[in-house]
Amino acid sequence: MDSRPIGIFDSGLGGLTVVSEIMRQLPHEQTLYFGDTARFPYGPRSAEELRGFVFEIIDFLLIYDVKFIVIACNSASAAALEAAQQFYSIPIIGVIEPGARAAVQATRNRRVGVIGTQATISSGSYITSMKTIDAGVKAYSLACPELADFVERDEITGERVEGAIKWYLDPLVRDGIDSLILGCTHYPLLSETIAKVAGDDITLISSAEETARELKEFLQRKDSFREGGVRPEPRFFSSGDEGVFGRLGARFLGQEIARVERVHLPFKAKVNRVEKG
Ligand code: DGL
Repeated sequence: MDSRPIGIFDSGLGGLTVVSEIMRQLPHEQTLYFGDTARFPYGPRSAEELRGFVFEIIDFLLIYDVKFIVIACNSASAAALEAAQQFYSIPIIGVIEPGARAAVQATRNRRVGVIGTQATISSGSYITSMKTIDAGVKAYSLACPELADFVERDEITGERVEGAIKWYLDPLVRDGIDSLILGCTHYPLLSETIAKVAGDDITLISSAEETARELKEFLQRKDSFREGGVRPEPRFFSSGDEGVFGRLGARFLGQEIARVERVHLPFKAKVNRVEKG
């Protein structure tokens, strides 16, 4: 048993879709979420810059003695998961491998589409992950730079967003994909519109659900669930405006956010890093 909280972070609000799933699948665990809204978006940034952000945020979360870290951002997972896992002694998972595994299991014709930010798609991480499970899978990936912005400004239905999704998905549909990885933590909020455009024959894979499942398996194997009883209140930190975070974040989380704590960048606190190896 381990009653410490789970630390989760993203470039903005999208990772709250992962928090929502974690809260659903792990009803006793306390979550601590950091949304780096002041530096959103991560998608157009370089891997090197993202690695710096990721290390900085993990150091921040370690101040709260978290037992596990979830990088609930595809762009940050693609750029920095491996480096972070090598550096820190605490267990860390990202969102890419769980999504890739689910897609390989779901596809019937072994043609899988992947949509995400520029950083995620150009890293090729989803393709690499899928191919380690099934080398015969054909992956069709596409960067959709505008889609996370639609979500972040709460425009998740309507002509404009539907038009953009159609424009992005048309080539993938023509490629004959039967499964589509929503490779950005913002996209689950667009899933209704994406499903409408993609049609009934394409299965949508949300990494949020799969990541929560993977976290649950980890905690099970390490026997580090929090003991039952009332779950402590989740905590939310934001590097940007607390009001916007609380208002829009509630939609991502699927429930009200009572309090958001503002964190000013750069972080001042220093944590003793434990280097592995
Ligand atoms: N949430 C980020 C991800 O999953 C996308 C948004 C951004 O560009 O920061 O990749």
